[in-house]
Amino acid sequence: MQTVAVVGAQWGDEGKGKVVDLLARDADVIVRFQGGNNAAHTLVVNGDKFVLRLIPSGALHPGKTCVLSNGMVVDPIALLDEIDSFKRRGRALTPTDLKLSYDAHLVLPYHRAIDRGREARAGKFAIGTTGFGIGPAYEDKMARSGLRFEDMADAPRFAEKIERNLREKNLYLKTLLKVQPLKIKETIDALMAARRRIRPYLCDTAAFLHDAIADGKKVLFEGAHGVMLDIDHGTYPYVTSSNCGASAVFGGAGLPPGKLDAVLGISKAYTTRVGAGPFPSEISGRLADSLREEGAEFGSATGRPRRIGWFDAVLVRHAIRLNGMWGLALTKLDILTGIDLLRVCVGYQIGKQRYDEIPPSRAMLTRAKPVYEELPGWTEDVSTATSLEQLPVNAQRYLDRLRELCGVRLAMIGVGPARDATITLENPFVA
Ligand code: IMP
Repeated sequence: MQTVAVVGAQWGDEGKGKVVDLLARDADVIVRFQGGNNAAHTLVVNGDKFVLRLIPSGALHPGKTCVLSNGMVVDPIALLDEIDSFKRRGRALTPTDLKLSYDAHLVLPYHRAIDRGREARAGKFAIGTTGFGIGPAYEDKMARSGLRFEDMADAPRFAEKIERNLREKNLYLKTLLKVQPLKIKETIDALMAARRRIRPYLCDTAAFLHDAIADGKKVLFEGAHGVMLDIDHGTYPYVTSSNCGASAVFGGAGLPPGKLDAVLGISKAYTTRVGAGPFPSEISGRLADSLREEGAEFGSATGRPRRIGWFDAVLVRHAIRLNGMWGLALTKLDILTGIDLLRVCVGYQIGKQRYDEIPPSRAMLTRAKPVYEELPGWTEDVSTATSLEQLPVNAQRYLDRLRELCGVRLAMIGVGPARDATITLENPFVA
C-alpha cells in the first residue's frame, strides 16, 4: 500500500512513536496532520531516548521528508527547540527534510497563558490539559482570528497582528483569569526572531503531498493523541481540541478522500489515560502502581503519572469501526508479564442495562461498570520473541482473544521498548 495512517485507538500514548519509526523505514514522506506539541512520542534508538513533540518520528531516518501540515497548530519556539535538539545530536534538519505548511496555525504565548489560567481556575472542572495552549489556538482558528505561518511573509503586518491579538488577550488574562498579562514588546521580539528561522521551512504541503503521491512515493500519516481524545468522537469535554482519527488526514493534510489506502490503529495491551474524564476499566492500588512503574507510564509531554486500566475491547472496537482500521498494532505486551490473572473489559453495566458497544452518550461512561473476562497470565520473558510461536502459550491466548474481540488483524506486537523489540506480522506498506 502507498499511503498509510497510524492513529491511536485509545486515549493517546499507545506507543505510536515506535510504530511510526518502524514503518518510516518503508516510507518516503511522514506527515503530522493534527494537534501540536501536546503530543509526545518517546523513542529509544540504540539506547538513546528521544522525545518528539512536533517533528514526526520518521525524522530520525535520514533521507525522509517530514511534513507538518495545515491541520496542525504549531508553537514556533517549541519547533525551533526541537530542531535544535536534533542538531545537537548530529542531525541537522534542512528545509528538504522538514516542511511546514503556510496554512498551519501558530500557538502563541498567550494561548499557553490562557490554557493554564483557565485550568487553574476550573478547579474540579479542569480537563487536565497539557497546558501547551492547544485548545485556545484551535479556538482562534475557528474564530478566524488566529495567525497562520503565511502571516510571517510580511514582517510589519505579522507584528501588528500579534500586537492586536495580544492586547485583547491581555485584557482577558488580567480581568477574567486574573493572571499576569504578557509583555507586548518581548513577545513580539521573540516571535520575530523565530520568524527568521522558520520561514525557510514553509511550503504548500498539500501540493507537495499530491506531487509525492503522483511520483509513487510512500506516505505515512502520523496521528497524535487517540480516538477517545477526538473532539467529536471522544469522551467530550475531556478531549483535545482536534479530530484525532484518520478522517482528519483529509482536512488536515489536504489528502483527497479515497487516496488513503490503510489505517493502522495502535493500542496498548492494557489501557492508560492522562488528564481527567471517564475511564471504565481503570484500576488502582498495587497492581496499577507496578504497571505504571514497569511501563514507565508518565506523560512524555508533562511528566504526569498516567492512569492505568485493563484492556477495554469496547473502546478499541469503537475506534476500529470509526476509522475503518485495516489492522491493529498492539504495544507493550511485555509489561503484562508476571500478572497471574489478566482482565479484559468486554462490556459495560450501566444501571440495569448491559452494553456491548459504546453507549450512545459518552457521559454515560462515567457510570459504566466494566464487565470483565479473565485470562491466565504468563511469567516468561517475552522481550526477545521475534514470532508469535516464541511467545508463551498464555500470551498467545491473550492475543488471540483480543483479536477475536476487536475483529481486526493484529499487524504488530510490541514486546519491549527498543525499536526492534516488535513482532511484525503484517506491514501495511508491503501488504
Ligand atoms: P490538550 O490537548 O492539552 O488540550 O489536553 C486535553 C486532554 O488531552 C488532556 O486530558 C490531555 O492530557 C490529553 N492529551 C493531549 N495530548 C495527549 C497525548 O498525546 N497523549 C495523551 N493524552 C493527551
